[in-house]
Amino acid sequence: MTDQTSPETTSATSSTASDGTPDLSAVTVSVLGAGNMGGAFVRAMLAAGVSPQNLRVVNSSDASSRRAADELGATAGSVSDLTGSDVVVLGVKPYQLDAVMPEVRSALAEDTLVICIAAGTSLAALTEALGGHTQLVRAMPNTPMSVGEGVTHLMASDDATESSVELARALLAAAGIVVDLPEEKGHAMIGAAGSASAFVFTIVDAMIDEAVRQGIPRPEATRVVLQTVRGAATLLQETGQHPAVARGAVMSPGGTTAEGIAALERGGIRPALAGAMDAAARKSRAMSGE
Ligand SMILES: NC(=O)c1ccc[n+]([C@@H]2O[C@H](COP(=O)([O-])OP(=O)(O)OC[C@H]3O[C@@H](n4cnc5c(N)ncnc54)[C@H](OP(=O)(O)O)[C@@H]3O)[C@@H](O)[C@H]2O)c1
Repeated sequence: MTDQTSPETTSATSSTASDGTPDLSAVTVSVLGAGNMGGAFVRAMLAAGVSPQNLRVVNSSDASSRRAADELGATAGSVSDLTGSDVVVLGVKPYQLDAVMPEVRSALAEDTLVICIAAGTSLAALTEALGGHTQLVRAMPNTPMSVGEGVTHLMASDDATESSVELARALLAAAGIVVDLPEEKGHAMIGAAGSASAFVFTIVDAMIDEAVRQGIPRPEATRVVLQTVRGAATLLQETGQHPAVARGAVMSPGGTTAEGIAALERGGIRPALAGAMDAAARKSRAMSGE
């Protein structure tokens, strides 16, 4: 990352709180496309401290913008709000990007931070479509962002200033964890995070069905499985234990867990999960023409 911070290129939002994080209360944001993911990002930005009157939601019609703004607790805006915003978020579908780019491009000041959450694009393509705009970040969240537990892959333009990247990070941080990795890791991140939430949903679904088959009523089965998955993840996160060590702690010689783990291994759980992650990453590469 090249920090080219100068009085001209420093974001208008560079004031920082006492702990060093950007002060978001005065940041003005326009979100072009506040649907499922854009809406989740709006909620995260409000939780991060952006004030509702400074957060404009711009959808494909005034009625849709008003509906989304009311639901999200933000303010309905119009395309004219893009001009003068400190941050412009592109939350439209990938195939809708081309149509909105000319208006976005003409609205940008040199220091406007653009955050694009669309899949299937690249920093190079976005930079070109925006006429060489430098303050550009791609953010690829997964759907648990909607409950503040997402994983967002942050990819910044080489020419973005450090203050722009820190602002993007601060806006995203209320939605879960933010992972800085080069753009070329995006396909691997689809397999490890983007698509992986759906792999976990499938595992949870299978476990609930089997708990029901074993005689546990479905509401209890659902609570039990969800808390077990959440508890296992929290235990690993909070203790830093290697998963194999945590697993070993549950396995008594000749016991129930050892029997169950042996069944999982015979069923091919490792190649199945690795295969799913690899298939998603491969598909992502193929879709982007690599
Ligand atoms: N779903 C995921 O897991 C996931 C993960 C990471 C990233 N993404 C990315 O998130 C983006 C949005 O996906 P989504 O599932 O949230 O789609 P979505 O719910 O359909 O939202 C798209 C939004 O764009 C608005 N829109 C469409 N055309 C517009 C225009 N010309 N001007 C202004 N607003 C316009 C729509 O407004 P109206 O409702 O008024 O039409 C809608 O609010 C995609 O690019 C996707 O690649 C999705």
